[in-house]
Amino acid sequence: MSRRPVAQINLAALSHNLQRVQQLAPASKILAVLKANAYGHGLVKVAQTLTAADAFAVARIDEALALRTAGIVKPIVLLEGFYEAAELPILLANNLQTVVHNELQLQALEQTAFDGQLKVWLKIDTGMHRLGITPERFDEFYRRLWQCQAVQPGIRLMSHFCCADMPGSAKTAEQLALFQQLCTDKAEQQSLANSAAIISLPQSHGDWVRPGLMLHGISPLPDKLGQQHQLQPVMRLSSRLIAMRQVQAGETVGYGGTWRAEQTTWIGVIAIGYGDGYPRHAINGTPVWLAGREVKLVGRVSMDMITVDLGDAPTESIGDEAVLWGPELAIERVAQCAETIPYELLCNITPRVDYQYITRQ
Ligand SMILES: Cc1ncc(COP(=O)(O)O)c(C=O)c1O
Repeated sequence: MSRRPVAQINLAALSHNLQRVQQLAPASKILAVLKANAYGHGLVKVAQTLTAADAFAVARIDEALALRTAGIVKPIVLLEGFYEAAELPILLANNLQTVVHNELQLQALEQTAFDGQLKVWLKIDTGMHRLGITPERFDEFYRRLWQCQAVQPGIRLMSHFCCADMPGSAKTAEQLALFQQLCTDKAEQQSLANSAAIISLPQSHGDWVRPGLMLHGISPLPDKLGQQHQLQPVMRLSSRLIAMRQVQAGETVGYGGTWRAEQTTWIGVIAIGYGDGYPRHAINGTPVWLAGREVKLVGRVSMDMITVDLGDAPTESIGDEAVLWGPELAIERVAQCAETIPYELLCNITPRVDYQYITRQ
């Protein structure tokens, strides 16, 4: 029996979550965000499964080209756009759409003439202050893009929320109002909503919604679980119990001796660690699902192993399966115990983990 950790990816759950997006935003098209290896789920498999999405978004050109190489023909949007003019012919040849968020990109487009036109999404900074043109320059960018020979008519307009995961946030209301005010007399298609806004801010849905995290069955809102939004977890990360030992009251477990047994107990050793992407900062008490019950992590996470407290009369045996997150144990809970967010846990999974794709509910 393999002792390697396994990330089982449930493609039926992925399709279900996409349907859930459709239910929540029935009037919008779906731009499924697949950057960072589809949030650690496997870029190509995820794209092949999301046949009902209208288009895909990635952060970088190599991610887009990997999709094209795999035979994906749907529209693909580069969320950070291109970095230099030399990339423009590659975008055209591969039918990649680009976000434009700065003057250098605009100038490159103005100076390019080729046999064909690119679809452009103009990104406006309404308050995130990361990418995007300032509201003051919106009219100028809009006009100049319209005049570019290399740009397809029908520019799309977009912005990104910084606080959509904080329902009721004044900042989100300000961003929405500013975006709507800027775009009010524009007939072009518009896009604002990430997962959190899809769930909690229907008035922001617009022509295109941009779900990422929720496609994987995870709640984008703190203190909520995916199932509370009728989402199904897609990833199930598991490994095996490889050793059990009894420790006496007062003995410590693991590097640094940071956890001390208060009474005699059994410790289980599970073959997963930060070398696989399990978070090193997971605290004592982080839940682990082991052979049908929840046990608690104790001691420091090491590179290849974690240790859990099995109590004084364990029923487990070596070889039993442990689930680190998945349908049995919400990743949102694990993230909280590691002072991080599910996004980071998913992206941190390393190549030592085997991927298995299943298609049943
Ligand atoms: C521009 C943009 N839109 C949409 C998303 C999707 O966000 P989420 O995964 O929270 O749905 C992201 C991801 O960070 C993004 O950068």
